[in-house]
Amino acid sequence: MSEPKKLFIKTYGCQMNVYDSERMSEALGGQGYVETKTPDDADMILLNTCHIREKAAEKVYSELGRFKGLKAEKPDLKIGVAGCVAQAEGEEIMRRQPLVDLVVGPQSYHRLPEMEAKTRAGEKALDTDFPEEDKFEKLKNRPKAKRGPTAFLTVQEGCDKFCAFCVVPYTRGAEVSRPADRIIREAHDLVERGVREITLLGQNVNAYHGAGPDGDMTLAGLIWELNKVDGLERIRFTTSHPNDMADDLIEAHGSCEKLMPYLHLPVQSGSDRILKRMNRSHTAESYLRLIERIRAARPDIVMSGDFIVGFPEETEEDFQATMDLVEEVKYGYAYSFKYSTRPGTPAAERAQVDPAAADDRLQRLQALITRHQREIQDGMVGLTVRVLFEKPGRLPGQMVGKSEYLHSVHVKGTGIAVGDLKEVRITDSGANSLAGELL
Ligand code: 5AD
Ligand code: SF4
Repeated sequence: MSEPKKLFIKTYGCQMNVYDSERMSEALGGQGYVETKTPDDADMILLNTCHIREKAAEKVYSELGRFKGLKAEKPDLKIGVAGCVAQAEGEEIMRRQPLVDLVVGPQSYHRLPEMEAKTRAGEKALDTDFPEEDKFEKLKNRPKAKRGPTAFLTVQEGCDKFCAFCVVPYTRGAEVSRPADRIIREAHDLVERGVREITLLGQNVNAYHGAGPDGDMTLAGLIWELNKVDGLERIRFTTSHPNDMADDLIEAHGSCEKLMPYLHLPVQSGSDRILKRMNRSHTAESYLRLIERIRAARPDIVMSGDFIVGFPEETEEDFQATMDLVEEVKYGYAYSFKYSTRPGTPAAERAQVDPAAADDRLQRLQALITRHQREIQDGMVGLTVRVLFEKPGRLPGQMVGKSEYLHSVHVKGTGIAVGDLKEVRITDSGANSLAGELL
């Protein structure tokens, strides 16, 4: 048998990309590739790119430029670009950076084996179509490799919401849900390989409406099906849109035992005027009422969100409305970003906010969020949580895992194995994690 070829994948951006990188690695495993941790000894380098941040494409070009030396030393080295920048730029990538052999969009990963073969024949391979077929079905992994205790599972991709700042509807395309039976099969497979917690992924995950045995299934319906999977202990999902938070999903948060009390529900702004300009089709008030209903179903739920400050035309008053909303919700986690233009999106054409004002707002918002985050984390001290242990900690004999609320918890203790789910009493709250002892 020949030596395995080595594959180096660099993943940028969201969990969706982490999941996709795993699938690409498995697909190329069938072509005799094993993963390596460094580009230096790779036979193929894949950049799995993200387009959500500013100048994403420029950063990819400069990263690619760094492989020039490697490629000169090793002419057989193949270089590929995957992900949302590949989708957005397409052929342009090969034109601007001739050392790129392969460009593959997020909907075409199942074609990687043929594309790789094409590059080995000395040709360039490009595929950024939006095909009808289910790429994950085609990517089904052959070897049953053991996995860690947590995994992502993509159930839905793309988005039809067209928020005025966002590139996702252009790079990931229209909203598509995978059929429920395939997802459930994949969940069983993950559990057989050691997974105990699954995070269902989708850009608009709660818009899920995949084919089920009796017509389309909702996300809640899918979660209830997964709740029946023996050996699966925890279910999470991300990212949700407020308008798709259906009644059955809210109820599931109160009654489905494997669904964890944590919800990422971005609102982006607390100003109705800005929300309208963002094309968000909800108001601050409707969002707050929604959270009330979710908390009525599951009082201890930890909320998480995303915010954009300095969106075009945002005034200090608009920003104050965001601060008021944050004060009211009290997020356990929240991600805040300064608006940056994405060419081709509606907001890119509008009057931009003074960057210094936007910086200042971002700092104030982050300070408030950090304070709440700390208060919620500190409030865990003295409580008993269940921790799913994921890996050894930095100190000898220490193990780290996640509570149901997604807090990292460090525990000193012998006899804890990766994958164990144990009751832990929280004794201490540090900068970014909790410490506790086994009960
Ligand atoms: N500028 C700043 N933040 C953005 N996001 C998406 N597009 C932009 C943009 N143009 C943020 C949103 C989204 C998160 C994933 O990234 O808050 O929820
Ligand atoms: Fe982008 Fe999310 Fe809005 Fe869809 S709902 S356009 S993914 S921010």
